[in-house]
Amino acid sequence: MNSESAVKEAIDDRGPITFAEFMEIVLYSPNGYYTSGSPISANGDYFTSPSAHPLFGAMLAIQLREMWRLLGSPDKFQVVEQGAGNGVLAADITDFASNLDAEFGTALRYLAFDVAPPPDQHYQVLPLTELPKDITGCLLSNELLDATPVHRFEVQNGKLLEIFVGHDGAEFIELLQPPSSTEIERRLTPFLNQLSNGYRGEVNLGVKDWAEQQSTILHSGWSLAIDYGFDRPTLYRPERETGSLRTYYQHTLGQNPLRHAGRQDITAHVDFTALDEAMTAAGFTTTGMTTQAAFLSRMGIESTLDQLRASALPRPEKRANEAGIHALVDPEGMGRFAVAAHSRNVGSEGLSGFSDHASDPTDLLPDVPVLKPGRHINLTGPQQGGGYFEVQSLEKLFSDEP
Ligand SMILES: C[S@@+](CC[C@H](N)C(=O)[O-])C[C@H]1O[C@@H](n2cnc3c(N)ncnc32)[C@H](O)[C@@H]1O
Repeated sequence: MNSESAVKEAIDDRGPITFAEFMEIVLYSPNGYYTSGSPISANGDYFTSPSAHPLFGAMLAIQLREMWRLLGSPDKFQVVEQGAGNGVLAADITDFASNLDAEFGTALRYLAFDVAPPPDQHYQVLPLTELPKDITGCLLSNELLDATPVHRFEVQNGKLLEIFVGHDGAEFIELLQPPSSTEIERRLTPFLNQLSNGYRGEVNLGVKDWAEQQSTILHSGWSLAIDYGFDRPTLYRPERETGSLRTYYQHTLGQNPLRHAGRQDITAHVDFTALDEAMTAAGFTTTGMTTQAAFLSRMGIESTLDQLRASALPRPEKRANEAGIHALVDPEGMGRFAVAAHSRNVGSEGLSGFSDHASDPTDLLPDVPVLKPGRHINLTGPQQGGGYFEVQSLEKLFSDEP
């Protein structure tokens, strides 16, 4: 059954469904967007940090090595990556880790998981049924929470209503009804009197279960979640009146999630306040939150870039690598993403990625990892659908702390 029929069947069975139920079906039911293909690649609908440049994984490996040391350099340090997609990040981190430090490389046990492991994998990606329990190490996710189901709301005459999905016989339609959960009201009530008539937004109720699951997997160590999103007051600012829900269909950004059921991606910004509340309730302690650009800068991406520039790499390759690194720290793009860290059963030492004591790993980096054709994308080459990415000056990107 295709996703459209699966949604219709759900509506026939129980009447209008919440948008979160709709999103669950169109993204994750058999034949859903994530279950039926491999959307993330140079030829996919979009690209993510791991496929932009291997330095993303390398900088994370440096942070993971610091965690391992803070735990007393145990013989076994487990990393569980969730939402690993095609496994590019897993491949880059594990490739780089042994190069960085042989002892750390031997201790590192990296397991990658996805609710829908795609067919074309760069590292073995396992189904969620194999998730371990009580590990010592780190939980990692990149752009996972933005792909999890959200409820949608609209403000009408100062009242909060939820947007449900129905079917009028010809197409899917929106229906406004009282919220399906008091948690939606709890999150929005402090902002309601500032929000205009017709204001729309999203609420992710799934973070609570997510955080509880994290606490069963991790006994001691850290959790790192990287994604786009804001703290709650920023997410529900009055001027963000159309919300953050976006769709990607055949490389095109859109805003109508009810079309192309199962064939387009649907994402929404993460409410990092909700993540923090849920992680705290699940027994974690907040370590910090920063932007991806600041995190990568603290891990030493600038000196690594200098190393790359001084290398004997041919000019077109240098340019392609610089473009990928630029994409990672671009303040208008992925550089603005948030990196949130939480800990459990560890000491109170901070992590370098979240504190102002910038580390400089230049002397640690044996070789700067460079783009691998087939694993990463070349942003200076022609792109699917025509056109080229704009490559800007890198100097200015690092001049100000975001
Ligand atoms: C936007 S993609 C990001 C993939 C990859 N992390 C990257 O950066 O390229 C989101 C991924 O999360 C997966 N996913 C969604 N919910 C999940 C869950 N509860 N547990 C594990 N994976 C999940 C999806 O199947 C999809 O592969």
